[in-house]
Amino acid sequence: MSKMPKLGVNIDHVATLRQARRGIEPEPVMAAIAAEAAGADSIVVHLREDRRHINDKDVFSLRKVLRTRLNLEMSIADEIVDIACKAGPDQATLVPEKRQELTTEGGLDVINNSYKIRKAVQELEKNNIEVSFFIDPDKKQISAAKKLGAKIIEIHTGRFADAKNKSEADKYFKEIKVSAVFAREIGLIVNAGHGLNYHNVSRVAKIPGIEELNIGYSIICRSVFVGLAQAIKEMKALI
Ligand code: PXP
Repeated sequence: MSKMPKLGVNIDHVATLRQARRGIEPEPVMAAIAAEAAGADSIVVHLREDRRHINDKDVFSLRKVLRTRLNLEMSIADEIVDIACKAGPDQATLVPEKRQELTTEGGLDVINNSYKIRKAVQELEKNNIEVSFFIDPDKKQISAAKKLGAKIIEIHTGRFADAKNKSEADKYFKEIKVSAVFAREIGLIVNAGHGLNYHNVSRVAKIPGIEELNIGYSIICRSVFVGLAQAIKEMKALI
């Protein structure tokens, strides 16, 4: 029987709520501590270039208090790479970033950005930070990531999650499954995430060989009604 995937809890939207009033609560560090106590295997935050939710201070504070792992989602912009090297998360997940997007819209284009990505990876690895590439379920991108020296990838599940009907969902699910098998065959550690929720997570969790699922929005939304600990426990039960 394959192992149950771990759960990385993304707490960006705790900070979104704080930023709605530019206030001091809810405090993301407290959310992270509560998430760990409820069974999160890692804490994920995205330090966006526009700092719309998580800010630099959050990242440094989380680094100090976390007992599990800190996974920092980040672009390959020089400024952000510098901050990551100073903060020292356990893992950096490289994502593409556009100012106007509501959330990360697609995977990293490893094929067309290889020079910049390689430079970022070298800097991060020099500082003992493991690097993961957030990429679409696409064999060409996965192979390119492997060629660039990736050891870990996170497969973008967003298109599956946003599918308009069953046949679309089936098609995108198959892409994820085939990509996960392929990535494992070429020796990569495979994670997955984006848009996963209480309805669609079980299907993805059953794909053999996925190490970790990174989930944020649906857990934070559910926590409004049942509390963060319960929301995480319910997600873990489904996984
Ligand atoms: N993985 C990556 C790389 C992401 O960019 C995000 C969104 O920040 C997530 C996972 C979590 O996505 P969601 O908030 O839709 O669960």
